[in-house]
Amino acid sequence: MLVLGIESSCDETGVALVEYFGQGTPRLLADALHSQVAMHQAYGGVVPELASRDHIRRVLPLTKTVLSQAGCALAAIDCIAFTRGPGLAGALLVGAGVACALGAALGKPVIGIHHLEGHLLSPFLSADPPAFPFLALLVSGGHTQLMHVTDVGQYELLGESIDDAAGEAFDKSAKLLGLGYPGGPALAQLAEQGNATAFALPRPLLHSGNLDFSFAGLKTAVLTQVRKLEAQGPGVLEAARADVAASAQAAITEVLVKKSLAALQQTGLQRMVVAGGVGANRSLRQQLNAAGAKRGVRVHYPELHLCTDNGAMIALAAALRLQSQPGLANTTYAFDVKPRWPLEQIG
Ligand code: KG4
Ligand code: ZN
Repeated sequence: MLVLGIESSCDETGVALVEYFGQGTPRLLADALHSQVAMHQAYGGVVPELASRDHIRRVLPLTKTVLSQAGCALAAIDCIAFTRGPGLAGALLVGAGVACALGAALGKPVIGIHHLEGHLLSPFLSADPPAFPFLALLVSGGHTQLMHVTDVGQYELLGESIDDAAGEAFDKSAKLLGLGYPGGPALAQLAEQGNATAFALPRPLLHSGNLDFSFAGLKTAVLTQVRKLEAQGPGVLEAARADVAASAQAAITEVLVKKSLAALQQTGLQRMVVAGGVGANRSLRQQLNAAGAKRGVRVHYPELHLCTDNGAMIALAAALRLQSQPGLANTTYAFDVKPRWPLEQIG
């Protein structure tokens, strides 16, 4: 089965072709991405209307690129998958509209995919794919969740952030340090040169006894620290920026690691998947690998370029879902999008 995947939920247009025969490893034949980060940077965050318009401009040229990279004709595609939610409504509608128009023109079925299910299953495209069941730590710009995954489509929520997501904590801390948007990768890079114990920042809900997260207070603590350093005179904040970055990263990653370990203990699971943009963080990976190795737990990740948003994970999730539930694809070409859509409700 050859699936074309289209991702347009936020600020990245992703298109990809995945081949899967129901056994063995799914294969990523081609993958193209356009990031809107440079366009939104001037505004300090994503401007939804600009995002939608840019998706419209990019999606068909990217589709052509992917088909030519794979040496594949449009008519060879068996199914077209798009991100149905969660995300920005206008941005989602672009992918949904294009997928359904293509499907109708080609007479091929279409399927709407949950963005987080795409992230969660993305390690199945890696050189070291997981096996079911596993614990999933989903850490994207908008979500921080721990899930007990027993099979494709079987996701039980164990805990989640009650306010900001881990990615937001990275981005907001980065903004306070003047690192632009989205600041996660820049903050991680700056943190490499800093001292992670320089500033004692809070580890919210670390001892809450449940698997929920809260990162909003951490942002306030970083803000307070930045103001204190600014007040100490010219150049003081500048000299301490790497230490603040390292301390903020340490606070975020420590909570993620400890809660993941608690979830492993609670469920008795021996495998773990880390997915979503923050899953690209080197320090988080090092700490999880070390903690996992001590407990005999294997930790799986998507390939680095598939950690952040992409079309490959959408095509892959569609291919895996259709294997067990072929009826999920539709040929009516009526579509809607779900800007808010809990993963446990995908049905
Ligand atoms: O999954 P993703 O691409 O988009 C959403 O679905 O939200 O995640 C984006 C998030 C942003 O908050 C970004 O700053 C963060 O992932 N991120 C990182 C790193 N790379 C991306 N955060 C920390 N360290 C990184 N290396
Ligand atoms: Zn995402």
